[in-house]
Amino acid sequence: MTNADRLWRRIREVAEIGRTEGGGVARLSFTGEERAAKDLVASYMREAGLEVREDAAGNLIGRREGSEAGGPVVLTGSHVDSVRNGGDFDGPLGVLAAVEAAQVMHEEGTATRRPLEVVAFTDEEGARFSFGMIGSRALAGLLGPNDLGQTDGDGTTVAEAMRSYGLDPQRIGDAARPPGSVAAYVELHIEQGKVLEDAGLPVGVVTGIAGPVWLRLSFEGEAGHAGTTPMGAQRRDALAAAAAVMRLIEEEATATGSTVGTVGLLDLSPGGINIIPGRVTLSLDLRDIDETVRDGVESRILEGAKEICTGRGVGFRVETLQRLAPAPCSEEARAAAWAACEELGFEPRELPSGAGHDGMQLIGLCPIGMIFVRSRDGISHNPAEWSSKEDCAAGAEVLRRTLVTLANR
Ligand code: GLV
Ligand code: MN
Ligand code: MN
Repeated sequence: MTNADRLWRRIREVAEIGRTEGGGVARLSFTGEERAAKDLVASYMREAGLEVREDAAGNLIGRREGSEAGGPVVLTGSHVDSVRNGGDFDGPLGVLAAVEAAQVMHEEGTATRRPLEVVAFTDEEGARFSFGMIGSRALAGLLGPNDLGQTDGDGTTVAEAMRSYGLDPQRIGDAARPPGSVAAYVELHIEQGKVLEDAGLPVGVVTGIAGPVWLRLSFEGEAGHAGTTPMGAQRRDALAAAAAVMRLIEEEATATGSTVGTVGLLDLSPGGINIIPGRVTLSLDLRDIDETVRDGVESRILEGAKEICTGRGVGFRVETLQRLAPAPCSEEARAAAWAACEELGFEPRELPSGAGHDGMQLIGLCPIGMIFVRSRDGISHNPAEWSSKEDCAAGAEVLRRTLVTLANR
């Protein structure tokens, strides 16, 4: 049975790495904080009897052999990187619950046909390069050395960050797993929404993951004197155009009832209380579990944005940073998690994931599954993110049982 105290102690210990003044955590990819978190998790993996290594993408992997040699592996885990000033549970819960599952199996002498691997993926969040899921993309064989050119706020590329972390970006392809080598990937994660809380349930079974599109929108106007440039056609205010587009984003997403649209990054220059903004770039994150609905919102926003900018004499440019299709969870993983909930006396409940997760990248490699733990007030990507010790342990136990089922298939 899951050791709730041990799991909770480890969650609290990892949460102290990268603690911010704002009371949250910041563990960006390829930094000392991500390194320290992986080192601590590696020590837990060894306590759990796992054979520990890191692959060419820096994914930390702990392996437990199965009784049948050479069979495909059941993979489980999550990430230990975080957003800027994020919460204590997004990522670490899934890694530490997977370590806990392996440790209980080790202590109880549970043999499984298939090997089990626990993974802490490199950079799930994309907080540093606006390009996330780097470790899982690499493991799925979706990254080559030429895909590492995205830059962070200081102009450092992913490839350069990898080098300073001690990894060789030319060898990123070595992290790819061959087709057929992974039987399933299952991740435990906090829900980051209010469905389970509203239903009064500690744990839920995920049906699928909404697909995100990440865009960078650039507006090119003309900087000018705020006092001497009259309102009207003479002004080519890039921020005023961007503001009209931001309003359109909110209207178009809201009108669908399902798509969510967020502008989370906004840059303007030159920047000054008495200068008309000449240039603006903003990020757009659009998601829906239905790809057609999401893509419809995207085209209406882009059409509208062109019109707005033309009318204001402002140049407009769009760059796609990532485009992922929604990812369905497999029947097999869902059924195994559902049965585990029933065994433990938790009313099983299925729900979709609005947040993105590493499993999305693995969908071409293996069937995926996810289990959610109730989040307090649905808050996440915020220091107030919280799930109780009891709920974390309940989710970990559902995960452990699900893994044993899948590893004996
Ligand atoms: C990660 O948390 C994401 O959903 O973007
Ligand atoms: Mn996460
Ligand atoms: Mn997250």
